Amino acid sequence: MIEFTLNGKKVSWKGDPNMPLLWFVRDQQNLTGTKFGCGVALCGACTMHLNGSPIRSCSTPMSVLAGMSVTSIEGLDSAPAKAIQDAWQALDVVQCGYCQSGQVMSAVALLSQNPKPSDSDIDAAMQGNVCRCATYHRIRAAIHQAADSLAKEA
Ligand code: FES
Ligand code: FES
Repeated sequence: MIEFTLNGKKVSWKGDPNMPLLWFVRDQQNLTGTKFGCGVALCGACTMHLNGSPIRSCSTPMSVLAGMSVTSIEGLDSAPAKAIQDAWQALDVVQCGYCQSGQVMSAVALLSQNPKPSDSDIDAAMQGNVCRCATYHRIRAAIHQAADSLAKEA
């Protein structure tokens, strides 16, 4: 049996250890905020946090999760997460929305590790998250706005 934490709650899995984490979160836990895009770790739509770092849950097998802490979009609860979500709304970042759960997860991980990212820091952190609606300029602006609002609170 594989035991780990999902959004602060202890969970376990007795099934196929090769099943992707994304299936567990969406189909077993009914948390559908995380999206399936490419299925091969190339688009970022399925991004979650594993011990605070972004991972592609479509390509992360259940077998590596024992004792780890997983966060999906539903479990975000931190000052950087609130700042990112507020900036996303203020700047109306979203277009179709399909990629945005993954975008937000990568942006929150970035801001949690680097509270004042440069444009190149943002581009490097976000390069694995594809947006077919090309919201990249608004994403970058929203990350800067979130960083500014965090700095004002500090
Ligand atoms: S669905 Fe996981 S990276 Fe595309
Ligand atoms: S908002 Fe449509 S794919 Fe990114």
